[in-house]
Amino acid sequence: MSKKILVAFATSYGSTREVAEAVAATLRDRGLDADLQPARDVRTLDDYDAVALGAPLAMHRWHKDAHRFLSRHRKSLAGLPVAVFALGPVHDPHDEKEWDDSRAQFDRELAKAAWLEPAAVELFGGRFDPALLRFPVNKLAGSEPASDIRDWEAIRGWAAGLFEATPQPVEPGGGPAAGAP
Ligand SMILES: Cc1cc2nc3c(=O)[nH]c(=O)nc-3n(C[C@H](O)[C@H](O)[C@H](O)COP(=O)(O)O)c2cc1C
Repeated sequence: MSKKILVAFATSYGSTREVAEAVAATLRDRGLDADLQPARDVRTLDDYDAVALGAPLAMHRWHKDAHRFLSRHRKSLAGLPVAVFALGPVHDPHDEKEWDDSRAQFDRELAKAAWLEPAAVELFGGRFDPALLRFPVNKLAGSEPASDIRDWEAIRGWAAGLFEATPQPVEPGGGPAAGAP
């Protein structure tokens, strides 16, 4: 049986959902059984062997649905490998100051769930689209130019290293054993 992984995400403007989709697709490519769900819709983790949770940073905070997910499922998560990621920087991918600031924000946010010992923590560049902002956020940030610095290679590379795939039984002849998927 292959491991069953939940990829849970929070999003305000959709870009984290697309990153979570790429994480789930990469896990599936590796033979893992990955489900994708909005974090706020997840009722139980009973079926899962591991969890990846992703959410954007906004106003120096990790999305509230990610925090709620951690609180609600704390008991189950304490016994599972958990990988977490955030989307944050949206300007120059080489602007170290912006990345350091976002990393510090993410660290502070994760420290609120000090009981969590993540198997992996990652920060990815995000997407900013002023056309999607709603009032009153559009009044505060709406004059910034649109950008998308999500690095799909980095995202897939990170997902490719998450969790251990279940080794497939191999027959002495070299091929998969009868009945193996
Ligand atoms: C109003 C607003 C505030 C933001 N604040 C932060 C922030 O404090 N720190 C950060 O690293 N990124 C910040 N970002 C960048 C977001 O994390 C980035 O746009 C992300 O891709 C949004 O994810 P979503 O499309 O899933 O909602 C902000 C973006 C917006 C629109």
